[in-house]
Formats: sequence, C-alpha cells, structure tokens
Amino acid sequence: MESHAARIETSVLIIGAGPAGAAAAALLATYGIENVMINKYGGVANSPRAHITNQRAVEVFRDLGLERDLIAVATPQSLMGEHVYATSLTGRELGRLRTWYTHPHFKAEHDLASPCSVCDVPQDLLEPILVNAAALRGTAVRFNTELLSFEQDDNGVSARVIDRLTGMESTIRCQYMIGADGANSLVARLLDLPFEGHMNLGGSINVVFKADLERFCAHRPGDMYWFLKPGVGMGGNGVGVLRMARPWTRWVGVWGYDINGAKPDLSHEFGVRIAHALIGDDSISVEIESMSTWTVNDVFALDNMKGRVLCVGDAVHRHPPMNGLGSNTSIQDSYNLAWKLALVLRGVASPSLLETYRDERVPVGRQIVRRANESMHTLPAIFQALNLSSAPDEETLESAINSLSEPGEVAKRKRHAFEDALQASIIGFNTLGVETNQNYHSAAVIDDGEPEPAYSRDEELYYNPSTKPGRHLPHLWLIKDQRRVSIFDLCGKGRFTVLTGVGGEIWHDAARAVFERLGVQIVVRTIGRGCNYEDSYGDYRRLSGVDDDGALLIRPDHVVAWRSQKGPDSSPEELLNVFEEILGKSTCTSGPS
Ligand code: FDA
Repeated sequence: MESHAARIETSVLIIGAGPAGAAAAALLATYGIENVMINKYGGVANSPRAHITNQRAVEVFRDLGLERDLIAVATPQSLMGEHVYATSLTGRELGRLRTWYTHPHFKAEHDLASPCSVCDVPQDLLEPILVNAAALRGTAVRFNTELLSFEQDDNGVSARVIDRLTGMESTIRCQYMIGADGANSLVARLLDLPFEGHMNLGGSINVVFKADLERFCAHRPGDMYWFLKPGVGMGGNGVGVLRMARPWTRWVGVWGYDINGAKPDLSHEFGVRIAHALIGDDSISVEIESMSTWTVNDVFALDNMKGRVLCVGDAVHRHPPMNGLGSNTSIQDSYNLAWKLALVLRGVASPSLLETYRDERVPVGRQIVRRANESMHTLPAIFQALNLSSAPDEETLESAINSLSEPGEVAKRKRHAFEDALQASIIGFNTLGVETNQNYHSAAVIDDGEPEPAYSRDEELYYNPSTKPGRHLPHLWLIKDQRRVSIFDLCGKGRFTVLTGVGGEIWHDAARAVFERLGVQIVVRTIGRGCNYEDSYGDYRRLSGVDDDGALLIRPDHVVAWRSQKGPDSSPEELLNVFEEILGKSTCTSGPS
C-alpha cells in the first residue's frame, strides 16, 4: 500500500490547551471558524494551579454561554475573602485582610463593575469547561500532540507536530497559528519575540492534598491563609500559603525552595511534612495528591506576533500569582484576538486588523507583570517591620512576634509598622482597576476627539466607567419585559453592536449600509423610553456619554470602538467610514459576494 505523509489543513492551529488556548478554541469555534487545538499532554491541567477567576474573565464565559457551567464548579466570592495571617492554620493569628472585594466598600465597587462575580475556580476544573465547549462547537482537539517546529510563508503556516503515543510526525497547514503554549513557549522562542525582564527569580513547591480542615476555616472563610513560619517561603519571600482548592477538603500548600540549590524534594513524605507544618498539627490526616514546582518570573514580551503567528497568555507574559492575573489575562488575550481573526478569515477585514492585537495587548502584558511583581514585593516588608530577614529561625520569629504585644514606644512603633506592612499587602488582592480599566489605543478604536477624562480615582485600584473609545463598555442594568438585563448581554457573541436611544433610527440605516458595503453584521439595540430596552434606573443616560439619539459602537469584545454624541447630524456614511478604518478597508471595497 502506498504511504502518504499525514497532512491536516485548517484555518487556525492553536498550540496549547491551557486557559489561553482553550479560550481561543472555544471562541473561534463559536464564531464558526474551523480550528485545531493541540496539547502535548494527554489531558487538561492535572493540578489546581490558577484559581482566582476575575470578573472580566467570567464575562468571557458569559458571552460564550458558559457562565453557569463555571459557577457550578466555582467557590463563590463570599467564601474567598478572609485572608488570615498567622503562624500556622492552628497557630496564632497575626492579622487579617478582606480580599477579592469582600470589604463592604470594595464589594460595592465590584458589584458596580460587572454583572459577573469574581470566583475561585481551580485550573483543573476551568480548563475542561472551555475544552469541552470548543470540542462540542467544532474544534478538533488533539491531545498527546506536540509542536516541534513551524515555518510561515505569505499564505499560511506549516507546523510540524508529533503524536507522542505513536511517535508519528505530521504537518498541520493553517492560515494562522496561535501560540498558547505557556511560560516555556516554543512558539515565542522560534518567532524570536523580544522579551524584557527575568525568569526563575524564586522557586516554590505546590503540594496538592486532601484534608478535612473545615473546623479551622469555615468561621473565617478565605481562599488563602498566609503563614510566617521558619523554613517556609513562597518564592523566597518567607511566607507559606495554604490555598483552598475545594472548601474545606482539597488544598494546595505552597512552600519555597532555593532555586539555586539542590533539586527540591518532591516525595510524598516531604509533602506531608509541608502540609502538617502549614496546618500546625501533625495529627491531621493528610492525603497527598501531587507535588510540583513553579518559579517566580518577571517577564513580558515587547511584541506578541510575527506575520501569521500570534502568541497569547503566559507565552508572552510571565509573573507571580499575586493579584491572580495570569489565567485571567490569558483568557482575555484570546477574547481580544478571536473576533479579529474571524473577520480576517472571512475576508471582511484586512489582515492589518490583527496588528491591533499587538497594540492593545502588549501594554496590558507589561502592566500585569509589573503589578504582580510589585505586589509580591510587599511581602518582605512584613518581616522587615519585625527587624527580621525572610528566613528567621523559630526562636527569633517567636520572640519578634511576642515583642509586638509589649508596652512602650519602641514596641508600639514596631507593632504599627508590622500592622501597616501587613495591611499594605492588600494591593496583591484588590486591584479592580487593573482588571477593568484597560484602555486601548489602536486602529481598531476610533478616537472621537474628546479629551481623555480626568479620572478622579486611582486607575489601578478603582473601576472608572467610561465610554471613551478604547475603554470597556460600562456595566449597567436595563429592563426588558420587567426583567433585568445586563447591557453586556446585548453585545458580544462575535458581533459588533450599535447602542442608541430614542430618535436614533438613523443608526439602523447606517448599520444596513455597512453590511451591504462591507459584509459586517451589526446588531442595533435601542435603549430608553419606549425602546427595546428600558433605561429604568437611568444609568444608561448617566454613563453612556452620548445623547439619546447618539450611538456607541461596541466591538465583539465589549470594547467601545467609537461613539457619536448625536444622531441627526450623522449620516449612514459616517458609520461606514468608521468601519472602513477599523477593518483596514479602503472606500472602494466591494460588497459581500
Ligand atoms: P498554560 O501553561 O496554562 O498552558 C500551556 C499549554 O500549552 C498546555 O496545554 C501545554 O501542554 C501546552 N504546550 C506547551 N508546549 C507545547 C508544545 N510544544 N506542543 C503542544 N502543546 C504545548 N492565574 C490566574 O489568573 N489566577 C490565579 O489565581 C492564578 N494562580 C496561580 C497559582 C500558581 C501556583 C501558578 C503557578 C499560577 C497561577 N496563575 C494564576 C497563572 C496561570 O496558571 C497561568 O497564567 C495560566 O495557566 C496561563 O495559561 P496559558 O494557557 O497561557 O498557559
């Protein structure tokens, strides 16, 4: 029999099935774009690694119709926020933080920012939701398949892959390739993407174990408990962490190791010792599930694409887990990219639209890497306030902690410095603005000439709603048939949306003209008295930044692409010009065939 070299053809090849790759696959499949996703391992993440799932990431699940599936496996915000600092889980409490927007002040901020809530979803429960949805919607998912190399030309990319079960090599030919292959990205390396920063700055061991710890936690529910303990150290910072993976029976113990020293001990015996040290009670029954290591990185890519190959997720931004930004940002990279790829592949947009992925997401990568690393650097200050290095012995640590309760001016100063340092670490868990205020400047955002508003509140800490083009559409509730509807639910699903109000009929004509000339489907939603959706709380009028007959043009990823203050002065031509700019098309573009 004649043998043929295996060759698969597809529109988009996705390397990696982590949060970034699986989100890209699910989104592309939902948008009707043929894609293949490969993963060198035989299954999804086999440990809980990432867990904080922020509002903007949950919104992506909501847009995909998967929010309920996510919530079904999530631990809710109400059980996440009591972060206890102590000597061990059963030991002396030293202070507490109210994290993940559970402090009443921040809870209001959180609820005002999104219809979705932050939640805790271990990565080994989150990935299957995206992978299943992708597969059900048409993605060809290939496990045990590893990328070896690739080449690109003017028309596409040829990727050489190996089936790790059979050892058989084959070629996958695609029009575009997404490198979602994580922190050791081969794709980024072969593309020779420029990076800034350093890898492997500290080392930590993750011990995943089962233990019934309800009696120590249920009355002070948090997703992380932080311990100042001799011999412990997260990435060399002297703080050990007990992280809840399932309340209150599945856990991840985090324990530092010297990255420049001997190979860390990953035996189950050592795992039990770590778990018992963190719990502070050797008599608790502990069942080790797995042991693994991870490193502290401080690296971001100055470019995330070359030609037909685009990188998402940890492939282009690598940082510590503080602020829980890794998986979340990775999912949002794919949310930014997927609709652009879909329009380019349908021939509706010029490939130049893809360049806006670089312009919009490289600055986000830089910002989150800096944020997570700066947050991590708040931890040594807790030890410094005690006049200790990050690795004190038991006796020294105990005496320093005891001295905090002493009377007198010296002890008071130390006490206050310790308490301030401890509270200052809240920045590692409460940066709503970093999550929600992304502000894009690119050719896929048409400036309306209005100056950038002077946001009176800190852009990292607080959510500042704005419809200035480039910002995320502000969250607000509308009413339809007496029921509350999130404005986000009027948008997304791979389509552009025009939001307008009373007297905005002209926008229907404008949207029709765009479809006839450029083939882009635009959904027009009317909001206001007597419209499709009632602005019963008055929030749309207050936040939209445009007049009743004006319009907001919302991209498929919920970002404001353009806005028009008024309607009557506008003509259908105006929206057409806007789309020609966004799609990188000239005015002589012919209509859809
Ligand atoms: P990821 O590494 O997850 O996936 C890469 C994929 O590529 C895998 O499927 C892999 O098998 C595949 N692959 C690699 N090379 C390949 C090749 N040559 N061929 C084929 N496939 C290949 N984030 C967050 O948002 N909230 C949080 O709470 C935390 N917490 C947290 C705690 C700890 C301890 C760690 C270590 C990390 C976090 N993170 C986090 C970060 C989060 O885990 C990380 O940002 C995401 O997993 C990144 O997702 P990616 O899909 O980019 O890469």
